[in-house]
Amino acid sequence: MKNDYSNIYSFNKKILRKTVKLLKLGKIISLPTETVYGLAGNAYSKKATKMIFKLKGRPKINPLIIHYSNYDKAKKDVIFNKNFFKLYKKFCPGPITFVLKRKKTSQIESIATANLDTVAIRFPSHKVIKSILKTINFPLAMPSANVSSALSPVSAFDVVDEFKKKLPLIINGGKSNVGIESTVIDLIKKPKILRPGVISLTDIKNTIKINISKKSSNIRSPGMLKKHYSPGIPVILNQRPKDLKDAYIVFGRGYVNNNNFFNLSKKADLKEAAANLYKTMRKIKKQGFKKIFVAKIPNFGPGIAINDRLKRASK
Ligand code: TXA
Ligand code: MG
Repeated sequence: MKNDYSNIYSFNKKILRKTVKLLKLGKIISLPTETVYGLAGNAYSKKATKMIFKLKGRPKINPLIIHYSNYDKAKKDVIFNKNFFKLYKKFCPGPITFVLKRKKTSQIESIATANLDTVAIRFPSHKVIKSILKTINFPLAMPSANVSSALSPVSAFDVVDEFKKKLPLIINGGKSNVGIESTVIDLIKKPKILRPGVISLTDIKNTIKINISKKSSNIRSPGMLKKHYSPGIPVILNQRPKDLKDAYIVFGRGYVNNNNFFNLSKKADLKEAAANLYKTMRKIKKQGFKKIFVAKIPNFGPGIAINDRLKRASK
C-alpha cells in the first residue's frame, strides 16, 4: 500500500501557530531535529507524556529526553554543575544530551522520566525546533519518532513510514544532517557516556575529565534494551554477502558500484557515514533485500557511535 503523506507540512508562521496550539492541547506531533526526527509532547503534561509511550510502544522504564531552547529555561527543572556549563558552552545547541539531577520543584511529568530523580536534557540546533521551543513556555519530551526498537527516522517521510496517519502533524525540516541520535552523557558523578554519538569521546575528553571504565553505572543506561535500531531484517556484521540478493553496507574507497553495495561514505568520512546510516538501512529494507551484511567500520570518533548502532541492529 502507498503511504499517505497528507499530514506532512512545511514550516511557516501559520504552521508554527498550529504547532503551538496542538502542543498546548497535549497532542503529539513530529518535529525535525538535527539528529533524528522526534515525537514531541509537552513535558509538563501527563496526557501528552503518557501518549508518547503509548504511540511508540515504549517500555515505561525507558525515560524520555526533555528539550529546551536554552539553559535558562531548563534551570527550574535540573541542577547544573561545572561540567555541564563547560560542555554547554562548547557544544550547544547541538547533538548532545546531559543527564542531571532533577529539582524537587520541577514540573516535568514523572512518567516522562520513568520516576527517576534524574532528567536527560537537550538543546537541539535545528532551526525549526529552535523556533518552536522559543515560542512555547514548556519543554518538549521528545524521543525519536519511531516505533520502539525500530530505526530512527531522518526525514518527515520516514516518520510516516513509522506512524502512518496516527499523528495530526509532521513538520518537514529536510533531512536530519547528523543522522543518528545525540550523545548521552551522565554528569551526575564522574561524567560517563551512556550513548555514543557524533560528538565523540575524544571531543568530550578535550573539554572535561571523563570516566571511561566499562563498568555500567547505576543509572539506567540507554543500552539496557538490547535489540534497538533494528531495520526489521537480519544485520550481519564484518562479513561480505555471498549472494547478490543480500545488501552490503560498505565504507570508504575501493568498492565497486554493484546494485547491492551501499557506501556510507566514499571519501571515508565518519560523520558523513553516520548521517547516511539509518537512511541507507531504511532504503535497503524498502528495496526488498532480505539481509544486510556490513563491512568493518573504523572504531574511532563518530565510528564508535556507528558501530554501537550496528551492533544493536544486529542483535
Ligand atoms: O537525538 C536525540 O537524542 C533524539 C532527538 C529527537 O532529540 N531523541 C532520542 O530520544 O534519541 P530517545 O528517547 O529515542 O532516546 C533517549 C535515550 C534513551 O535511550 C534513554 O534511556 C536515555 O536517553 N535517557 C533518558 N533519560 C535518562 C536518564 N534520566 N538517565 C539515563 N538515560 C536517560
Ligand atoms: Mg530512540
